[in-house]
Amino acid sequence: MKKLYIKSYGCQMNVYDSGRMADVLAPLGFTQAEDYIDSDMVVLNTCHIREKASEKIYSELGRIRQEKERRKKLGGDMIIAVAGCVAQAEGHEIFSRAPFVDIVVGPQSYHRLPELVAKVESHGARGNGLAIDLDFPEVSKFDLLPAPSGGGVSEFLSIQEGCDQFCTFCVVPYTRGAEYSRNVPEIYREALTLTQNGAIELTLLGQNVNAYHGLGLDGETINLAKLIRHLAKIPALKRIRYTTSHPLDMDDELIALHGTEEKLMPFLHLPVQSGSDAILKAMNRKHDADYYRKVIEKLRHARPDIAFSSDFIVGFPGETDEDFAATMELVREIGYAQAYSFKYSPRPGTPAADKESQVPEAVKDERLQQLQELISHQQRKFNESFVGRETEVLFDRKGKYEGQIMGRSPWMQSVHVKDGEAYAGRLMPVVITEGRGSSLAGEIVEFASDTRYNTLMRNTK
Ligand code: 5AD
Ligand code: SF4
Repeated sequence: MKKLYIKSYGCQMNVYDSGRMADVLAPLGFTQAEDYIDSDMVVLNTCHIREKASEKIYSELGRIRQEKERRKKLGGDMIIAVAGCVAQAEGHEIFSRAPFVDIVVGPQSYHRLPELVAKVESHGARGNGLAIDLDFPEVSKFDLLPAPSGGGVSEFLSIQEGCDQFCTFCVVPYTRGAEYSRNVPEIYREALTLTQNGAIELTLLGQNVNAYHGLGLDGETINLAKLIRHLAKIPALKRIRYTTSHPLDMDDELIALHGTEEKLMPFLHLPVQSGSDAILKAMNRKHDADYYRKVIEKLRHARPDIAFSSDFIVGFPGETDEDFAATMELVREIGYAQAYSFKYSPRPGTPAADKESQVPEAVKDERLQQLQELISHQQRKFNESFVGRETEVLFDRKGKYEGQIMGRSPWMQSVHVKDGEAYAGRLMPVVITEGRGSSLAGEIVEFASDTRYNTLMRNTK
């Protein structure tokens, strides 16, 4: 048995991809380990979205190199692979900066990992730059990969990949390639396997997931709303989420589904990036702030208790104080359950990186702090409003403390419960006792006390 350590950086798509890499390497005798000490193979599944994310890889590689050398002295070896978006973007350059790396493999080629490993093994793991695969192959990797094993109560399912939007700050269209949707029967089969293996919740993943347009059984094009309706028929599946969406692709059918499909969770990550029309234009987002407001309004009309999350970029080239004030205003108006905000990071090869009007770092810092304060405040208020309420929590992991379990509410809040081991892996009614900045504390409700719970019981029978 060989020990394999995979570390994922960045988005949920990478977490999903890492799982698939483990699946494809399992027949070679690799079993996943918790850390890289004494590993026979290490895979860093990397993220290129911001400069900081990329640079982290090289410092981690430095640490792993020491372990590789230690093992070599003892007569062993270690294969080091760099996968994901940094691999795609930097390619051969990785071998020059980190010559002890053995494999560089892009996000569309990891089904070829076994061949790359064989190549390295036949030469010895000398980091000789031979094993590199950055193709965007004609036949999708999904057709060539084994079915995912899953096993968790909450699983990711990748349905769409790549992006055709070309926001001027973003590397995704270059690293992940053109938009591609998997076909419906393939997704359905994967969903069935995952639910048979215990999944109660599925999160459908795509870089621009609501642009999904896969082929159905009869060759007709199926949109995301129809796909969700189809998957919702699987009895064991109780919760469906999807991420990440573009406001432009939030069509009326999908919006309406939020009001009619009980399994669709009342939480949506819908990035807007900025509240300023001028900046949205410069970002090539192809809609203005009012368009986004309208989409939010329609969603709230369809599902009044829906909560939102978003991504924001501060300090995009040319962003003035007024532009930033418009972002703050939009955040105040919408009121988020949570949100991510980032300082603009110029990415080589993207149009915005070459703009002369770059915003000074100190201004970016100041704006980021203001925005994050506002978002944290909103998140705390949102969480506090749950105290005393009953909600359903899917307990999918252990907590930090002995006996504590953690899970997610329908609104994506982390909820922890003391002495809850007996409920691990289950969807349970919980009464919220405390609302904090980024999590909730609660207690399990043993018996049905309201109609909502009764509906849930009926569904789970
Ligand atoms: N600089 C800062 N943030 C970025 N994002 C994407 N590219 C950049 C960049 N160059 C953010 C966007 C996106 C999220 C995944 O990362 O907000 O929605
Ligand atoms: Fe990047 Fe824009 Fe595509 Fe999102 S929609 S992946 S930000 S190009």
